[in-house]
Amino acid sequence: MTAEYKVIGDVAVITMSNPPVNGLGLATRVGITNGLTQANSDAAVKSIIITGAGNAFSGGADINEFGSPKAIQEPNLLSVIRACENSAKPVLAAVHSVAMGGGLELALGCHYRIAAPGCKVALPEVKLGLIPGAGGTQRLPRVLGVEPALNMIVSGEPINSEMLAMLPGQKLFDRMATSAESLAAEAMAYAKELAAQHADGSALPLVRNLPCKHPQGDAYFQFARNMVKGMAKNYPAPPKCVDAVEAATKKKFEDGMVFEREIFTNLMWTPECRALRHIFMADRAASKIPDVPSDTPKRTIASVAVIGAGTMGGGISMNFLNAGIPVKMLEMKQEALDRGVATIRKNYEAQVKKGKLKQDKYEQRMALLTTTLSYDDIGSADLVIEAVFEEMGVKEAVFKKLDEVMKPGAILASNTSTLDVNKIASFTKRPEDVVGMHFFSPANVMKLLEVIRGAKTSKEVLATVMALGKKIKKTAVVSGVCDGFIGNRMIEQYSRQAGFLIEEGCTPAQVDKAVEKFGFAMGPFRMGDLAGNDIGWAIRKRRNVERPGMKYSKTADLLCEMGRFGQKTGAGWYDYQAGKRDAIPSALVVEMIEKHRAAEGITPRKISDEEIVQRLVFSLVNEAAHILEEGIASKASDIDMVYLTGYGFPIFRGGPMLYADQVGLFNVAEAMKRFAKNPRDDAAFWQPAPLLARLVADGKTFN
Ligand code: NAI
Repeated sequence: MTAEYKVIGDVAVITMSNPPVNGLGLATRVGITNGLTQANSDAAVKSIIITGAGNAFSGGADINEFGSPKAIQEPNLLSVIRACENSAKPVLAAVHSVAMGGGLELALGCHYRIAAPGCKVALPEVKLGLIPGAGGTQRLPRVLGVEPALNMIVSGEPINSEMLAMLPGQKLFDRMATSAESLAAEAMAYAKELAAQHADGSALPLVRNLPCKHPQGDAYFQFARNMVKGMAKNYPAPPKCVDAVEAATKKKFEDGMVFEREIFTNLMWTPECRALRHIFMADRAASKIPDVPSDTPKRTIASVAVIGAGTMGGGISMNFLNAGIPVKMLEMKQEALDRGVATIRKNYEAQVKKGKLKQDKYEQRMALLTTTLSYDDIGSADLVIEAVFEEMGVKEAVFKKLDEVMKPGAILASNTSTLDVNKIASFTKRPEDVVGMHFFSPANVMKLLEVIRGAKTSKEVLATVMALGKKIKKTAVVSGVCDGFIGNRMIEQYSRQAGFLIEEGCTPAQVDKAVEKFGFAMGPFRMGDLAGNDIGWAIRKRRNVERPGMKYSKTADLLCEMGRFGQKTGAGWYDYQAGKRDAIPSALVVEMIEKHRAAEGITPRKISDEEIVQRLVFSLVNEAAHILEEGIASKASDIDMVYLTGYGFPIFRGGPMLYADQVGLFNVAEAMKRFAKNPRDDAAFWQPAPLLARLVADGKTFN
């Protein structure tokens, strides 16, 4: 049982105890209801306290029960809350640290509430595509007032208890404890007071009986609805939060509860809710590596050296400075160092200007940054990350030098985006200490960190880098070694399809629009212009040598031959006005594409948005299926995290693999077979990957 029951004097104390946040799993729920029954049948008990052990009152639903029948098994949360309300003896919630979701709903079912300051209070269900489902939408407006309650429910964001306690007329907290430390003692005293107060058998207060009204209800809810609609766009839950809170003001409490439950159940089945819940779990799962247990020893990383102060080196350094870890940047020339430091300064200053960073924090961070031109100065760093030119020869020289100067036990990482990490490791006498840390540009902003596990990378190094990823607030996902790792290997197929599509009849703008309507942050051509089309050009030149005969549209090469590298040259797939980022369709590019079609004897055809999206997204899926089968990624959800956090895949679709699951793998494979018949496309590529074919045959899904 994960709730402890203790009687202290004449007060029964029920302490939820289900680390890390006292999730309301079945055993905890049973513990609470048993405690309530026991307390009510014990004549010596006069009042009851419900509280949480450790660092939370309760964080709400137990994520281990997500999607399992246990989640709704009796006593479900609604029954537990009813048991609190029905207790003949006063029940006091002693709230501290964290009271979220079901945890807050439980507290709202108690007769009284005392809170410690600094407690984070929230109903975050909307972030999982849901609304609160155990009375939160009906009770919170009754204690806080309609507007603050709706605000909390729609945003899902936590608010500190002492702030809530300041709201005029609030009834959420009957009393505030002086401090978190004194909460237990103050709750005990309060419980005794309450026992005395109700010794005469006077009725116990219930939140459900409080009135719930808004003086200008109709107007207010109309405003709220308009505002939420604009912001929520692809998400159905936020407008439903408005409906549910409005119901609290218009319906009887019990009817409001039925209405809330109906909305909750309907939302549960939406693809958006499934996507958000999938991401929640996938994010946690990414840090779990099948053969690297969580208790694997980790090395201390208290200082970092970065080789190369260019685009990536600077951004990478900022991550560590932000986390309070000193960084030393090394370059070949002083000018390069000066440029690198100036860019970092400029980035921080922009944050200060926007009010996102305090001046003193900025100075603290800059004070952690030092530079050098000499390898002699970096030998003592715990971790060194190489971000020099993407050429094996340059990497070889750097890693040989690092092997010479770095102290034993230092981790040697490369930020290479495509090169063979095993080969890089072989330039050292300590391949077990070598790992890929593949950041995404801009490295100080993008969440994704692909951690490349070399054939000889030690488990300790891997565990250390994964933990470090968390510390610098990245989503770290492990990838095996292959050309492009998980993300860029898949994007190669996506880019190839984008090329075929314009050859066959689309304009770049049509492709981008279709994909952006699907929900991508940016279509492939706008993305190419942003990243620099020359990067892909260089990679294709290498691949043409390594993999001759690979079929692809030459339009991207022709574009680069015109010197149109993208935003940085003021022209790419689109035209750009000086200093602006708006993509303007280019007559020159259209002409280039038409000439190319004529030379290849292609008669352009009209291509639907549906075909565009399917070919682009399913190309990701088929390549991903190969990646999974080869063990480059250990689970489908890792691939989803890579695409959600590094490539702008629409969040509400949950990543390419979940999207394919939701479309149905049979349908995905059938579409691939259709695409294979297109003579302009690559029939061999569109053979469903063996893993995909097996899943279709077995009626299974990726996730
Ligand atoms: P960059 O050209 O902006 O910067 C490279 C820097 O390394 C230059 O400042 C150069 O002076 C310095 N450098 C070159 N050889 C050196 C040496 N032997 N010792 C010390 N410094 C040296 O290049 P960028 O874009 O920062 O790329 C660096 C690495 O990061 C490459 O491996 C690239 O593939 C990878 N990468 C790049 C991404 C991007 O979007 N730019 C994304 C992810 C990875």
